[in-house]
Amino acid sequence: MSTTRYLTDSEMGILLTAAGQAPSMHNTQPWRFEINGPVIDVLVDADRTLPAADPGGRLTRVGLGAAAFNIRVAAAMLGHETTLAIDPDPATPAVVVRIFLADGTEPVAGLSSLYDAIGLRFTYRGPMLDKPISPRMTQLLADAANAERAKLHWLDEEQRAQLGATIQAADQREVVEEDRVHERARWIGGDRGADGVPDSVLGPLPDRPAAVRDLSAGFDHPHRSQAVFEATPIIAILGTVDDDERAWVRAGLALQRVLLTATSYELAASFANQAVEYPPLRDNVRTLIGRDIWPQMILRIGYPAEGAGLTPRRPWSATVDRRR
Ligand SMILES: Cc1cc2nc3c(=O)[nH]c(=O)nc-3n(C[C@H](O)[C@H](O)[C@H](O)COP(=O)(O)O)c2cc1C
Repeated sequence: MSTTRYLTDSEMGILLTAAGQAPSMHNTQPWRFEINGPVIDVLVDADRTLPAADPGGRLTRVGLGAAAFNIRVAAAMLGHETTLAIDPDPATPAVVVRIFLADGTEPVAGLSSLYDAIGLRFTYRGPMLDKPISPRMTQLLADAANAERAKLHWLDEEQRAQLGATIQAADQREVVEEDRVHERARWIGGDRGADGVPDSVLGPLPDRPAAVRDLSAGFDHPHRSQAVFEATPIIAILGTVDDDERAWVRAGLALQRVLLTATSYELAASFANQAVEYPPLRDNVRTLIGRDIWPQMILRIGYPAEGAGLTPRRPWSATVDRRR
């Protein structure tokens, strides 16, 4: 029961602004959208992928899943129920997600309540308060992941220590691999108006090893301050049972549902994903959490101790192709 009417420009602006506010690795915003009546297709923008850090396109698909989730939330706020298909048509393999919007005017209960969090969410790379997250909250976040057929695995102290060693191994590799260093130089650092990660949001350097990734590792950072990070980071691994192209999109849908839920409760997150970017290290992380699920994202979650800036986005009009 999809709608017969076309989206207005204003609706399209709301939906695609929301999509563009999704997180993406190195803020490449690797998506583009095609709109056909009430159907929105999410496609990969091949000029915005990361061949060195993400040769299989897994993390690109996670970003597309997150953008698709934001479209569902914004559509719910506008009153549209949505149906979503991953890799909907073998004849058009470029379409990764297809979202069908149904007619409606009243905000859709549940999903629409996450709409305000879309614009408030950001990746927070500073220190967290040394304040635990309540069991109710950890359950709510786990439920958010489950709702998208993913799992959130909270690490205990021993697992955290083991993950720390894997993160350090990844840190050592990523500063010496030239193709990765060049790729990061293209997307990270400096002043940026539309994409990439500007200096202003890199966060302070931790005064001792911490579960936070220094995206500018290997470059000069003359103006970075130092900070004491939380002694007991709260870390969750987002994983999926399968590890195929569809599962990666599911991981993105789940990631964004978890992040928006966290934002609604004033929690913030950053990612220590370097440890799941190298297959052998990713396998270590998989063993760490029992091998039932494939680790897709490593989240550090908590109550932020400081403010942080926003990372720029392209205008939505630069991402869309309207067919009819
Ligand atoms: C698949 C994926 C992997 C990411 N990996 C990292 C990471 O390892 N370290 C990090 O600091 N941020 C990471 N990010 C966050 C992005 O850098 C961030 O989403 C982007 O710069 C946009 O900024 P925002 O999230 O504040 O809107 C990742 C995001 C995604 C979707």
